[in-house]
Amino acid sequence: MTHRLRRCHISVPGSNEKMLLKSTKLDVDVVIIDLEDAVAPSEKENARNLVTELLQRETWRAPTVSVRINALSSEHCYQDILHLIDHNGAAGSRPQTLILPKTQRSSDLLFVDQLLLQIEARRGLSQATGLEALVEDATGMLNVADIATACERLETLIFGMGDFAASQRINTLNIGDQGGYIGDLWHYPRYRLIMAARAHGLEPVDGPYANFKDATGHAADCTAAKYLGMTGKWAIHPDQIAPITTCFSPSLEAVAKARAQHAAYQAALAQGLGAVSVDGVMVDQASIKLAAPLLAQAALLGL
Ligand code: COA
Ligand code: MG
Repeated sequence: MTHRLRRCHISVPGSNEKMLLKSTKLDVDVVIIDLEDAVAPSEKENARNLVTELLQRETWRAPTVSVRINALSSEHCYQDILHLIDHNGAAGSRPQTLILPKTQRSSDLLFVDQLLLQIEARRGLSQATGLEALVEDATGMLNVADIATACERLETLIFGMGDFAASQRINTLNIGDQGGYIGDLWHYPRYRLIMAARAHGLEPVDGPYANFKDATGHAADCTAAKYLGMTGKWAIHPDQIAPITTCFSPSLEAVAKARAQHAAYQAALAQGLGAVSVDGVMVDQASIKLAAPLLAQAALLGL
């Protein structure tokens, strides 16, 4: 699977040329161009044409550009795929990944996978388009372990809490908000999705927090998602990019601690010991496994 930085993914409505042009300059790991819920039903075709044209003309600062296509239940899905992948020529003008919304079972992804396989074969495309699954209703969440096994090009499972809340009739009106619930409203679905993703080598990604003026609530939401094991999170506004990117980057303090544990463990091994005390904390092979992803990300970011 292609390795990508996936701390912050900002969504941009595919019908808004001004925001799309602005997104080319954003310092962010992933830009998601949305053809689904942020595009009015009357604008679906215009948005698809605009996005196809901009992908050919513009280059993005973000290393990854993804497009959220329309769901299989709409009449737009196959047209989105044809326009974005089949009709789009050079590798640079095709999105690196397609995001399938409202994924309910692995066969949903298989349909898209097979369509992409045919297009890639017919067009002789050597660079396969990645696929991402938004899991965002009760059916999808019940089937998430099956969804995770769908196909090789699948890169992420994304938790979409807005549609999920609607599907389960959770009592909240702001996407991502806890709605006054005592406890963590998103703990169970996040945990379930993260487990399915990690068990199959996929990256779990958290959906957005719609109240972009509420920096405190947003920060708490990012932290909760990160603690449970999410790789990154969606943003819906440029102001959310910096807090999300910082939250999902390793802190220098954590990197220093992980490096100290690693060094002490290696020294212990050289003496034939499998466990050692570092600042009063036991460190053994499991601790080294805990620190490994953090150290890998630090290396990738040049920390
Ligand atoms: N991508 C790129 N630029 C964005 C942006 C986004 N997602 N959201 C806002 N901006 C730009 C605005 O165009 C504005 O630019 P300007 O200063 O050059 O005029 C600037 O950032 C400040 O925006 P602001 O005035 O605070 O917000 P707004 O009222 O223009 O937009 C939203 C608010 C919610 C409509 C907008 O952020 C948005 O459409 N977000 C994405 C929605 C989406 O993709 N939803 C589907 C996925 S969940
Ligand atoms: Mg949704």
